[in-house]
Amino acid sequence: ISNMLVDSFGRLHTYLRISLTERCNLRCQYCMPAEGVELTPTPMVMSQNEIVRLASLFVHSGVNKIRLTGGEPSIRKDIEEICSQLSNLKGLKTLAMTTNGLTLARKLPKLKESGLNLLNISLDTLVPAKFEFMTRRKGHERVMESIYTAVDLGYNPVKVNCVVMRGFNDDEICDFVELTKEKPINVRFIEFMPFDGNVWNVKKLVSYAEMLDIVGKRYTGLKRIQDHPTETAKNFTVDGHQGTVSFITSMTDHFCAGCNRLRLLADGNLKVCLFGPSEVSLRDPIRNGADDNELRQIIGAAVKRKKASHAGMFDIAKTPNRPMIHIGG
Ligand code: GTP
Ligand code: 5AD
Ligand code: SF4
Repeated sequence: ISNMLVDSFGRLHTYLRISLTERCNLRCQYCMPAEGVELTPTPMVMSQNEIVRLASLFVHSGVNKIRLTGGEPSIRKDIEEICSQLSNLKGLKTLAMTTNGLTLARKLPKLKESGLNLLNISLDTLVPAKFEFMTRRKGHERVMESIYTAVDLGYNPVKVNCVVMRGFNDDEICDFVELTKEKPINVRFIEFMPFDGNVWNVKKLVSYAEMLDIVGKRYTGLKRIQDHPTETAKNFTVDGHQGTVSFITSMTDHFCAGCNRLRLLADGNLKVCLFGPSEVSLRDPIRNGADDNELRQIIGAAVKRKKASHAGMFDIAKTPNRPMIHIGG
């Protein structure tokens, strides 16, 4: 293993998030503005071959987990082929996807056969009318169906990502915990984060402390699980529940010290931090004929520029970044 993926703080990056597309079949308010976002012209989006070549380079350098994101990754026409190719990379242990679940149920058996072995599904409300408001589209029932299909196919746990926003779904926290009672579901409550175009406001942020208080009052048997240092989530078991409950506390208690994540965006830019504005293109050198050594140098230099942590929520909110739909979380 080369030191290409070790940053100047000694953090080893073993987890690569690849955004496969900037397109999505929902229009979530916290992810994109109503007017939509500018899309990278299709010829400038990474092809399957380019993605696999870069992924292979990363895996040879120590990455053992790849997560496919978007936009909505499952709407890419070649998604099954991409999964097959990536899951065949020697050294890759986990091939994951974060999806909105809208059209997942029917695609999932084939995706599972293609090697997808970890699944995170986004769902912010259990009320269909609120789902329509937040996503600007219909489809609550279909997302629920995908969650249960994933459970039936043996994904264990199925992670359900719930971004908590004051006045929208903070009254549903315990209803979400109930999802974990009979099924191996891991419900993850996420602090609302600022991205370009999502009208973030600290008043809409429900903090980890507040969420834990709400859950702790209702469920007395809440026990913290010893998490791996690279975890994004603080995980808890609930007495008598098959599933678990977690909190992703990016704003009030960030987990940057254990960060092991890099991001390859759909346009081929490498982004070393979710909130770091600095990006470098890997697509352009590839298309100009760069060999693996040249790519390794570009990647290594970008990783070495990574900051110790993000700048804090108020500075982040003021710094231009990208809309979430371009980054994929
Ligand atoms: P697992 O691999 O299952 O642990 O999932 P994950 O948390 O790495 O990925 P997921 O796509 O499910 O993201 C859940 C939430 O965590 C989203 O809101 C992401 O934006 C956020 N998140 C993921 N990675 C990072 C990160 O490196 N930094 C910060 N601040 N947030 C992150
Ligand atoms: N704050 C926190 N999480 C977000 N996500 C999307 N936008 C935000 C935001 N502003 C979540 C999605 C998805 C994951 C990739 O990131 O719900 O589950
Ligand atoms: Fe890593 Fe940046 Fe996320 Fe912190 S904010 S955990 S440094 S990607």
